Order: sequence, then structure tokens, then C-alpha cells
Amino acid sequence: MTKVACVTGASRGIGAATALKLAQQGCDVAVNYLSRADAARAVVRQLESLGRRAIAVQADLSDDAQVQQMIKTVVRELGELHILVNSAGYSSHGGIEQLAIDEWRKMLAVTLDGAFYCAKLAVPHMRQAGWGRIVNLCSLRAMTGSAHGPHYAAAKAGLIGLTKSLALELAPYNITVNAVAPGYTDTEMNQKSLAEKGEQIRASIPLRRIARPEEIASVIAFLCSDAASYITGETTNVNGGIYMR
Ligand SMILES: NC(=O)c1ccc[n+]([C@@H]2O[C@H](COP(=O)([O-])OP(=O)(O)OC[C@H]3O[C@@H](n4cnc5c(N)ncnc54)[C@H](OP(=O)(O)O)[C@@H]3O)[C@@H](O)[C@H]2O)c1
Repeated sequence: MTKVACVTGASRGIGAATALKLAQQGCDVAVNYLSRADAARAVVRQLESLGRRAIAVQADLSDDAQVQQMIKTVVRELGELHILVNSAGYSSHGGIEQLAIDEWRKMLAVTLDGAFYCAKLAVPHMRQAGWGRIVNLCSLRAMTGSAHGPHYAAAKAGLIGLTKSLALELAPYNITVNAVAPGYTDTEMNQKSLAEKGEQIRASIPLRRIARPEEIASVIAFLCSDAASYITGETTNVNGGIYMR
């Protein structure tokens, strides 16, 4: 049976690479984006060239009404929903004294509220299908903390709690819920820090290089496959060994 996936933040970066891997695995895919419609449409064309059905769906995930509309569109256009990958995210910096309260709220709204809204609205479709996969994009920073991004680290750590809780609740319905925690990955999100201190960052990683988005996407796609049927509630670190330092 063809599986239908919704990948949030799939207009670029890890989300786009995941959409491609899932399409290569035989899934039809909804490509969510915030504002870059052209980039999302380019990903859709790439998926269609593999013979898969694909749609681009705009939604700001911090707004539950927009998420509701997005999930409705996915099910209307692609028929079902079996796989949800919560990859959308952004980064911003500031220590506790600099960080504006609005920025704290926005980070939690996009990262944690967004993942919760998407899961809440996707799960009924997975239960109906008797099969489901949810993968939440967490971060190395959930484990290490971040002196320059307490909001980012806290939101990502919150996702681990959400992952474990949903894994426990949804296991009886054959729905697995996992998290993937990337280290430094070559996407737009951290272009600035890589430009400023790329050498220092590479030297701190046992594998001595930054990950390619495909290297994170292949782990996500595995967790979304039948091959990962007995894994749930786990957070998989994909970071070139940096966490051992
Ligand atoms: N890159 C890394 O080193 C790294 C490390 C650890 C964890 N992660 C996590 O991995 C995930 C993917 O990161 P990435 O590096 O692939 O990011 P990216 O290349 O910057 O892409 C971000 C994606 O999220 C979308 N997005 C942002 N805010 C959104 C919102 N409010 N609603 C809907 N979509 C939104 C963007 O849409 P538009 O294109 O329309 O703006 C884009 O598709 C994130 O959760 C990130 O925190 C990344």
C-alpha cells in the first residue's frame, strides 16, 4: 500500500531531503512550507519526476487554524495520512538577558506547539489506517543546552518529552513516535555560524565534517519505514560523534 507522508519545513534543508528519501521509498508526499512557495514547488516537481504524487502546502505551524487547514488539504488531495515528519524550525540567538519574551514565545510556538498541533490532527488518520509514523526533529542542543539559545534548546528538549509521551500513548495503535537529533548540518539554518567559525566547528566533530542533509534524512526515512517497526520513543543522535566530546 502506498504510504502518504506530510513533511513540515520541506521547502529546503533536512525537510526537503527527507521528502525526497520518502518519495524514493515509495511514499506520496505533502511538502509544507512557510513562505518560499517556489522552493516548495521545486521539491514537488522533483518528487513527481520519481512518479510519486506530491503537493505543496503553505502553513505557519505556530497557528493551529493553519495546521488544521493543512492536514485537511493533505487528506483531501492525497487521500490518507500515515507519516508525519515535524522538521520545520528556525534558529535565533540570545542569552537570557537579551532574549525578548516574544522571541521565546515564537520559538516555542513554531517548534513545540507546531509539532503538537500537527500530531494531534494527523493521529486520527493514522489510527484509521492502523499504521503510523511520527518523527520529530530535535537537536543536539536538547541534550547539551545552549548558552546562546535557551529557547531553542528548551523547545527541542520539550520535543523529546512529547515524543516519549506520544510513543507510549499511540503504541497500541501501531503508531511509532521517534525523534532525530542532528548535529551541525549544512543547511541555511546555520550558514552564518558555519561562515564565521566553520573550521573551529569541524575540528570539534570526531568525523571532522558537517553533515549533509541527506545523512539526517536517511535516518528519518528509516524510522518511517516498516524496517523500524519495533523502535518507538527513541531519540537518535546523528552528529558525527560530537556528543561524545
Ligand atoms: N541544520 C542544522 O544544523 C540542524 C541541527 C539540529 C537540528 N536541526 C533541526 O532540523 C530541522 C530542519 O532544519 P533545517 O536545517 O533543514 O532548516 P532550514 O534549512 O532553515 O529550513 C527550515 C524549514 O522550516 C520552514 N519553516 C520555518 N518556520 C516555519 C513555520 N513557522 N511554519 C512552517 N514552516 C516553517 C521553512 O519554510 P520556508 O522555506 O518557507 O521559509 C523551511 O522549509 C529543524 O527543526 C532544526 O531545528 C537542524
